[in-house]
Amino acid sequence: MVTIAVPAEADKSEHRIALSPETAKKFVGLGCDVRVQAGAGAGSQFSDAEFKEAGATVSKNAAATLKGADIILTVRRPTAASLKGAAKGAILACILDPFSDKAGLEALAKAGVTVFSMEFMPRITRAQSMDVLSSQANLAGYKSVIDAAAEFGRALPMMMTAAGTVPATRIFIMGVGVAGLQAIATAKRLGAVVTATDVRPSTKEQVESLAAKFIAVEDDEFKEAETAAGYAKEMSAEYKKKQAELISEHVKGQDIIITTALIPGRPAPELISKTMVESMKPGSVIVDLAAERGGNCAVTKADTTVDHKGVRVIGATNLAGELAGNASSLYARNLHAFIALMLDKEKEGALAVDWDDDVIKGTLVAKDGKIVHDMLTGQGGKK
Ligand code: NAI
Repeated sequence: MVTIAVPAEADKSEHRIALSPETAKKFVGLGCDVRVQAGAGAGSQFSDAEFKEAGATVSKNAAATLKGADIILTVRRPTAASLKGAAKGAILACILDPFSDKAGLEALAKAGVTVFSMEFMPRITRAQSMDVLSSQANLAGYKSVIDAAAEFGRALPMMMTAAGTVPATRIFIMGVGVAGLQAIATAKRLGAVVTATDVRPSTKEQVESLAAKFIAVEDDEFKEAETAAGYAKEMSAEYKKKQAELISEHVKGQDIIITTALIPGRPAPELISKTMVESMKPGSVIVDLAAERGGNCAVTKADTTVDHKGVRVIGATNLAGELAGNASSLYARNLHAFIALMLDKEKEGALAVDWDDDVIKGTLVAKDGKIVHDMLTGQGGKK
């Protein structure tokens, strides 16, 4: 019988968990033995009793959880040492952060762990239900607006009162991927005047469909600026200059800016210079969702709120994690859809991994002692 183990996260500030009572029940239904470490769901408001009721075993510590496990599910990347006792070649699926801590990743590979990075999920229709970047970014986009509103000392919607009119807050969203779209929708619901920019031409229509205004230099380069996989490309120096001029004019009049711009495998592009921050009115707020990858704003500090001449810049790195209950439920479903692919359809509770499946190949990072993903071995960095 396949054993699925879910140890508690090593990082105590990580409140998410890779399993929910709902997915525990589904795995049990697929013939798996599910083990979860006692208390591991507490940060997401999942109790041990709920896991037990779902058919999982609640183990008292990490060692008991992992003993002989075939599949290990976590939120963040665990160390090789912390997985001792799992079965040889055990499968690990997590939000690997594959480009960081190379030595740690090599140690996992050397320990013989079969590592999958959920961030490498191919963006094909079949894999949408497994797409952790989407499920988490959507929540982060929502929370970025809520946090910005809380930090901003004024109301968001226009209000006409007997004592006079309260003007609507201007919110500018930079980067209209999954997080950006949700940020636009949330800001609109709260009554702000919303504008947005992106380098991918397909985003213009998406922004307009949410009744926000699109702002970008729309030249020939812009029209080509999207990879087949649907991601942004690095833009030319000339384009960046033109775009920066347009944006810096626009930024001056904004009250809140949410930045979400990322390019896979690269540091986040700098979109807001120090001078641009200084051009904003004191009391303005910037939430930088790209903080973990270096930030889109020049003054961003990850995990800190910086006050730069009266403009507060929030270096948010794990906003989805602050909505842990929702984030865990969605992440657990992503993992369930992914792991279900690896289970034998004929024989209950047995593994049958199709190593040629695009979803498996696309996410596999380490196998049989070696790192195998071409984005990490230097064979496919330009993809
Ligand atoms: P992301 O997190 O990689 O980047 C966020 C946004 O920043 C992107 O829209 C990107 O174009 C933009 N950006 C990059 N450089 C920029 C710059 N210099 N200035 C302004 N904006 C810049 O993107 P995310 O959220 O992962 O989405 C990428 C695309 O993939 C979207 O079209 C999304 O709808 C699509 N997608 C497809 C899925 C599927 O089919 N399974 C699942 C999820 C997303």
